Amino acid sequence: KFVERFKSAEMKTVKADDVEMQPPKNAGNLAPLRGMKDITSRDEIYWHTIQKRAEDICNAYGFGFMETPVLEEASLFSKSIGKDTDVVGKEMYLFEDRDGAKVALRPEWTAGVVRSYISNGMHTWPQPIKVWNYGPIFRHERPQAGRLRQFHQFGCETIGDRHPGADAELIVVAYNFLKELGIDVNVHINSIGNLEDRQNYTVELVGYLRSKRSYLCENCKKRISKNPLRVLDCKIGSCAPVIVESPQIIDWLSESSKNYFMKVLEYLDELEVPYALKSTLVRGLDYYTDTVFEFYEEGNIERAQSALGGGGRYDNLIAQMGGQSTPAAGWGLGLERIVSSLRNKEDAKKYLLEKEWSGIFFAQLGEQARSRTLRLIEDMRKQGLIVKHNLAKSSLKTQLEIANKFGASHCLILGQKEVHDGTIIIRDMDSGNQEIVDQNKVISEIKKNLKNKTKVIKLSGSNL
Ligand code: HAM
Repeated sequence: KFVERFKSAEMKTVKADDVEMQPPKNAGNLAPLRGMKDITSRDEIYWHTIQKRAEDICNAYGFGFMETPVLEEASLFSKSIGKDTDVVGKEMYLFEDRDGAKVALRPEWTAGVVRSYISNGMHTWPQPIKVWNYGPIFRHERPQAGRLRQFHQFGCETIGDRHPGADAELIVVAYNFLKELGIDVNVHINSIGNLEDRQNYTVELVGYLRSKRSYLCENCKKRISKNPLRVLDCKIGSCAPVIVESPQIIDWLSESSKNYFMKVLEYLDELEVPYALKSTLVRGLDYYTDTVFEFYEEGNIERAQSALGGGGRYDNLIAQMGGQSTPAAGWGLGLERIVSSLRNKEDAKKYLLEKEWSGIFFAQLGEQARSRTLRLIEDMRKQGLIVKHNLAKSSLKTQLEIANKFGASHCLILGQKEVHDGTIIIRDMDSGNQEIVDQNKVISEIKKNLKNKTKVIKLSGSNL
């Protein structure tokens, strides 16, 4: 009961997500920049769950945490992601710093990880280097539901291992991570072959697209010469018939790329990860070769901004950036989209990790009680009891109201009289029953009380 109440108190403001782009009413000039969002403590339960699950699954699969700076030389991204991609060409937060250096806020993790691999001489470390990262990413896109200008990605990279099993392992990590959050995942997968395969295919594709030019949207007309593969990814309805009829990259794969891809699929079968082959899946970043994949939530219509994540192999990138030739693969998941999916889930509670709070609120009356309060709270904290309070309020009624709003199971009440007697009142917030206990015994007494409630708590699935 307590857990139910606690959760409903915490989640009161958490509702349907399409309003997420709108700043709070009366925010005036104090709203965050367009496409950027505050994460308030009311959303903590989602973020805490995601971060904890990410850490646990990465530990379980042997990925070590790493982080690269938010700011890098702009050329790092144009050289790796590709200057004709949307991310680099249109969306980077690009500026000169005070020394006149051209820098950019990271529009993804992979380029920074590759730079770090090279600059830290990680090729001399035992291979493969399996790492995960977690943090804010910046893209100056047109904001809408599921598309922000500052968002967060959780990513995994395996560097120094060209084996279909490595691709499959990466996919299974993301698949299991999403499954553990209660999200039914569709894995879309394709192979775009090696560079030569892709060049041959691109020649064929450009010829075909030129013949259908008049049917394409304005953006895709430009893409024919700049980045023809991206046409395949266009979500505009009028382009759909042209895309469906287009030559398929799978028919242009070399024997070795085809075999490699078949092996990846066999590993996924073995691991019982369901997948759908998507011949038009090409991804929007230039560095990919061979396997590419994306994750969608079951039942969620495929829109440009509905992929929960995506990734693939990038075997040429490290050499291209000046390192030794080293194969690699990885993915990134968009965390705001995962939070949205959890918010909209009726049974999300089952998957959310409890925030640790004992359920105790401490109310005090009078100056002497107030100074004793902090001392007692300090002692309780050392014994693992997390206590909420509001020292600025002096009326008991107000404090009990606040305790209720927090969803407290117990309230400790310390007044002038109790300070003199060396006692304290424990109030059960459900029944309203109160008992007076010795201050020196309050910790063991309250723990006993909490234990009695634990039975209820455990029944409702809490790990408190
Ligand atoms: P990406 O497909 O550009 O891949 O981004 C990965 C995920 O980040 C997307 O599927 C989506 O969930 C989320 N995302 C992207 N843009 C936005 C946005 N504007 N607002 C909210 N969420 C967004 C990469 O970034 C690659 N670096 C992944 C990778 C790692 N490939 C190999 N290793």
